[in-house]
Amino acid sequence: MAALKGIHLTTLLLSLLLIFWPSDSKHHYHHHHATTNATSMANPRLRRAYIALQAWRLLFYSDPSNITSTWSGPNVCNYTGIFCAPAPDDPDILTVAGIDLNFADIAGVLSPHLALLSDLALIHLNSNRFAGLVPLEFGHLPLLFELDLSNNRFGGPFPSHLLNLPSLRYLDIRFNEFEGMLPPALLQTRLDAIFVNNNRFTSVIPSNIGASTASVIVFANNNFGGCIPESISKLAESLEELVLINANLTGCLPEAVGWLYKLKVLDVSSNRLVGHLPYSIAGLAKLEQLNVAHNMLTGPLLDAVCMLPVLENFTASDNYFFEEANVCQNLTSFNDTQNCLPERPRQRRKSECEAFGRHPVDCVAFHCEGGNNGASIVAPVGFPALAPSPGHGL
Ligand SMILES: *[C@@H]1O[C@H](CO)[C@@H](O)[C@H](O)[C@H]1NC(C)=O
Ligand SMILES: *[C@@H]1O[C@H](CO)[C@@H](O)[C@H](O)[C@H]1NC(C)=O
Ligand SMILES: *[C@@H]1O[C@H](CO)[C@@H](O)[C@H](O)[C@H]1NC(C)=O
Ligand SMILES: *[C@@H]1O[C@H](CO)[C@@H](O)[C@H](O)[C@H]1NC(C)=O
Ligand SMILES: *[C@@H]1O[C@H](CO)[C@@H](O)[C@H](O)[C@H]1NC(C)=O
Ligand SMILES: *[C@@H]1O[C@H](CO)[C@@H](O)[C@H](O)[C@H]1NC(C)=O
Ligand SMILES: *[C@@H]1O[C@H](CO)[C@@H](O)[C@H](O)[C@H]1NC(C)=O
Repeated sequence: MAALKGIHLTTLLLSLLLIFWPSDSKHHYHHHHATTNATSMANPRLRRAYIALQAWRLLFYSDPSNITSTWSGPNVCNYTGIFCAPAPDDPDILTVAGIDLNFADIAGVLSPHLALLSDLALIHLNSNRFAGLVPLEFGHLPLLFELDLSNNRFGGPFPSHLLNLPSLRYLDIRFNEFEGMLPPALLQTRLDAIFVNNNRFTSVIPSNIGASTASVIVFANNNFGGCIPESISKLAESLEELVLINANLTGCLPEAVGWLYKLKVLDVSSNRLVGHLPYSIAGLAKLEQLNVAHNMLTGPLLDAVCMLPVLENFTASDNYFFEEANVCQNLTSFNDTQNCLPERPRQRRKSECEAFGRHPVDCVAFHCEGGNNGASIVAPVGFPALAPSPGHGL
């Protein structure tokens, strides 16, 4: 009820604002000699933008850097953080094409009136204190290409209404408080980059992850559980970065990760993965960063992996690997500590390694289609509990 009242009050104030909008005739008089190229002269779209931005501003309850002190008067193109450009469908008039308030530290909520900015292509609100839900009206921005809501206080379920945006290619909602499951529809969009890390998502990674065309997928620091779906093999033509740090994943690393031949970054650290490193990883000719640390992986650290042509950094610490090729130490950055490598310093205790070895896992027999099959694996006695690792600088 309180929220509804708020909207009614906003509408009333906006009606008043509209009445005081400078009339067209006055503007035409002043710009009598202007050519018909794009100008910031009031046009219906800039008038709607004025309504939208003033409505939004009323919902800010803290603006410590006084960003919005410039947000007065009809010339919205002059407002700090608001960017105008000639309208795509009418180059003679200016329209609001972007909002960039990154690092403004503003506290408030989003206004449904922002949907009046129907030509918006970019919204960057990284590092503010916006809270609450993403209004349903955001699903009606036909030109929206980049949406960055990262590092705010948004919550509620995944904002599925954004998935119908026809132009959206870059979606960044990391470091918020979204919760619940990731909708399978997220992987059926034409998004090129998907950042949902550091939220409170649960339930498994959707098994249709392979339907995505994204080049960057970052699901880290959520509590998904379950396995890495086999369907990732279908990401081979597009995926360059796969970051699944600290997502409570179980099961084996699927052989299919090695088919993602465009991968430059593969980070599955701080999960509960078991089994061997799949030999297929040795085929990732573009791989630069490989991090499998803090899991329950075992078997050999393969020479073929350490010899990958552009691999710079291989982090394998805190597992149960028991064999290592000498060539691994030739990598620019390599960490094999806290494993079961007989010849290497700073390894696990022998007893710990022996206890682990008594519970082998057969990854060939093991199948997991994005589900929780992995839970059936019995963790070895005495395996240290994984502490959450907030320090990952994503
Ligand atoms: C618009 O027209 C004015 C007057 O002819 C000119 O000075 C200005 O450079 C033009 N602006 C653009 C963006 O073409
Ligand atoms: C913002 O404005 C308030 C009140 O006018 C002033 O006290 C404060 O110092 C300003 N802050 C900045 C960062 O300019
Ligand atoms: C826009 O702002 C600049 C300086 O910030 C000012 O000189 C100019 O007059 C403003 N334009 C309008 C139309 O308000
Ligand atoms: C990880 O997932 C399992 C279920 O697969 C769940 O029982 C456990 O509580 C989760 N771990 C954390 C740290 O939430
Ligand atoms: C290698 O990767 C690890 C894990 O991501 C990171 O902590 C380390 O700083 C990296 N080393 C270098 C030299 O970049
Ligand atoms: C490591 O690099 C050195 C110098 O580049 C080379 O002499 C040595 O053979 C390499 N070691 C292995 C195991 O490839
Ligand atoms: C290797 O990893 C261990 C355990 O995560 C860490 O304590 C150590 O600082 C790392 N060593 C280097 C050289 O990065």
